Amino acid sequence: MLEVLKYISKLRRCDDMKSSRVPGFYKKSIKERLDIVKDFAELSDEDIRVLTTNSSGVDMNIMDKLVENVVGCMPLPLGIATNFLINGKDYMIPMAIDETSVIAGASHGAKIIRESGGIIAIAPDSLMIGQIQVTDTSAPYAASIKILNKKEEIIKEGNKVDPVLVSLGGGLKDIETIILDTEIGKMIDVHLIIDVRDAMGANAINSIAEKIAPIIEEITDGKVCLKILSNLADKRLVKATVTIKKEIIGEEAVDGIVKAYQFANATPYRAATHNKGVMNGVSALALATGNDFRALEAGVHSYTARSGQYKPISIWEKDAEGNLAGSIEFPAVVGIIGGVSKLHPVARVALKILNVKSASELGTVFGALGLVQNYVILKELATVGIQKGHMSLHAKNIAMMAGASGELVDKIAEKMVKENCIRLDMAQKFLKEIS
Ligand code: MEV
Repeated sequence: MLEVLKYISKLRRCDDMKSSRVPGFYKKSIKERLDIVKDFAELSDEDIRVLTTNSSGVDMNIMDKLVENVVGCMPLPLGIATNFLINGKDYMIPMAIDETSVIAGASHGAKIIRESGGIIAIAPDSLMIGQIQVTDTSAPYAASIKILNKKEEIIKEGNKVDPVLVSLGGGLKDIETIILDTEIGKMIDVHLIIDVRDAMGANAINSIAEKIAPIIEEITDGKVCLKILSNLADKRLVKATVTIKKEIIGEEAVDGIVKAYQFANATPYRAATHNKGVMNGVSALALATGNDFRALEAGVHSYTARSGQYKPISIWEKDAEGNLAGSIEFPAVVGIIGGVSKLHPVARVALKILNVKSASELGTVFGALGLVQNYVILKELATVGIQKGHMSLHAKNIAMMAGASGELVDKIAEKMVKENCIRLDMAQKFLKEIS
């Protein structure tokens, strides 16, 4: 320990030691911030060009307003998943993702599924939950009834926060209470049920929760601590289902996918990866449309663990005719107005491509995409294995990592696939041989 302290104090004395302590960094211009980072990390002019080259032409001043301390952009490929038929309507789905084969997989799966009639998906009104944590009440059960008794009054007060939302039919609709038994005593978990209409809703929920917190405190004679939305939005569940004819995919695939689901249902080790495949689609659509993918992910994972065991978010069964029946259900915490969806020019165009009229409709697309993504990967895993399709696309990335560009990327990728050996050292070897 002493040695470590001595080492640290020696380091501190080094005159040329660079410090990450930069007062007012957030107030500086992008150019000034870049100069500081360039000096700190000894970046080259080429590094700076990479950070600041903005392939989508999005105004850097907009980026600078979205988050703090901006120095550049981190572009992701934006692709379109085709062939989606959801509730009889055709969709082209924009996806922002850096993983090969995900968009191709979605398009391929959607093509198979449309041959069986497409996807049915439903999403209810956009009811979210805001939580108010009440501690230090001497009689929490009685206090909780007192809250419910004043429900109308609290709702009236809460709805003063966002008259526009209320005029659109949204706002605070109901109040529920739960008594929690914690290690430091009983608490009241007040749930504010808020219809956020076409928004994701975080701002409206948090503002309403903060507005009515003092009233709750007064009624309960307790102490209000947290006032924040819950991402476990189990009143805003999207549900989607598909039936895939056994004649199209074969009985072996039907049985294999059902077994794969049962495997995931029996162990969280597999459920985690099963759900990762679903989220490949869900998160990519969230990113493309400027939706909060972290909120969605938190919602999906908490919803699927609600029984106490982490479970697969989708279910695969064999129906009476021997066809494959898939279904999925998760909180669709997504919106089409407000936040990044409206501010980010690419997100705006992505929403235009999707042509959805409401947050609920967008929710149905999320559900459909997650289910299709899951189907296509399970089909692969349960039949030919992942490497054949996934890795042959991944081979192009490996070829580029080896330094290939232009036509050489495809040539080297094809050679690796042919030799069934998709590795960086092989790509480097082939590149040397060809060039
Ligand atoms: C890879 O991104 C996703 C998979 O691991 C999903 C799965 O195993 O179901 C292939």
